[in-house]
Amino acid sequence: MIASKIDGRLVMAPMTRGTDLPFRRLIAERNAEVCVGEMAFAHKVNKGSKAELALLRRHPDEKTFGVQLAGKHADALSEAARIAVDRGADYIDINLGCPIDEATRRGFGAALLQRAGRVGKLVEAMTSAVDVPITVKLRLGWSSEKPTFLKVARAAQEGGAAAVALHGRSRAQRYRRPADWSAVKQLVEELSVPVIGNGDILTWRDAKARLEETGCAAVMIGRWGLAKPWIFREFAEERDILPTPEERLAMLKRYVELCFELHGDDERGRERVRRFVVFHQDFFRRYRHGAGLEAVNSDDPREWGEDPRDELESWLCRADQPAVEALCRWLVDGEDPVPPPPEEPDAPRAVKLAALG
Ligand SMILES: Cc1cc2nc3c(=O)[nH]c(=O)nc-3n(C[C@H](O)[C@H](O)[C@H](O)COP(=O)(O)O)c2cc1C
Repeated sequence: MIASKIDGRLVMAPMTRGTDLPFRRLIAERNAEVCVGEMAFAHKVNKGSKAELALLRRHPDEKTFGVQLAGKHADALSEAARIAVDRGADYIDINLGCPIDEATRRGFGAALLQRAGRVGKLVEAMTSAVDVPITVKLRLGWSSEKPTFLKVARAAQEGGAAAVALHGRSRAQRYRRPADWSAVKQLVEELSVPVIGNGDILTWRDAKARLEETGCAAVMIGRWGLAKPWIFREFAEERDILPTPEERLAMLKRYVELCFELHGDDERGRERVRRFVVFHQDFFRRYRHGAGLEAVNSDDPREWGEDPRDELESWLCRADQPAVEALCRWLVDGEDPVPPPPEEPDAPRAVKLAALG
């Protein structure tokens, strides 16, 4: 059943803070058909943590919504999966790639890349606990020297996993090297269940080429999906879309509107919305005409493609404090737009990509 939902699709990757509900709605309005939410810790879901349960929320506009869980105990993951399914998840993904200490210290996320036997058992328990498909998302291995993805993916398949997503980097590599798509191809040859390839997709053409080259069932996009929410439409319609700064601004405004629907526009709601705008702007600013891989891998805007063409575009290409504060005063607090002061040459704030996913 998962196969027909993901086949040939561009899937939005699970991203902590990135795939919040308003953002998923924004991309659903732009042809995204399959999205995975932010990783939720199974034990916190089971304890009824409000913040964790909020990560399971779905909207009827979402066509296919996957909930990603992190954990290492079959009972905890199964219980959390039941809660997620009650709240509308179409499938459950187990996180086997998260490199952050909070997860690996407890034996979750990437730590499970060293425990294929356990992965098989977890998937088996979860497939018996719920009626929706169980998938796993993994990296190449704990370190590049010892890739374990084949072993872990085989164990997951034997346990009953309906699909396997592979981010072609090890935990230790973080984002320093390009993703290894030959590993995705290898996995496709190895497994009978659908494989979802992930890593460094920047354009709809990249996505189509990776589908073709590797024979994978679907391609998953992370960082560049946040920077370019219209990429799902480009993929669906097989054409380049080059939005004007006004059109990009309209997308940001729509995101804020969707945030208000969820968080409310009282002082508390606005505070939350501001925090999400700050996060998303760090990715959104990276899009420029002619942008290449450097736009996500480098923090030097001079490497991000063509220079902004007007004042609005310059503003949208910034995530330093004065620029984002001015954006929030305008879009969140409803003040008249007052463009930020000129950027200080060494002020831009870097996205701490190294710590994530
Ligand atoms: C801000 C951020 C948050 C992430 N959060 C998660 C997460 O919650 N679960 C997960 O499996 N991967 C997470 N990842 C990893 C992405 O899902 C994806 O595998 C990775 O970014 C590679 O894809 P890309 O090259 O298209 O960005 C995160 C990555 C980033 C940059």
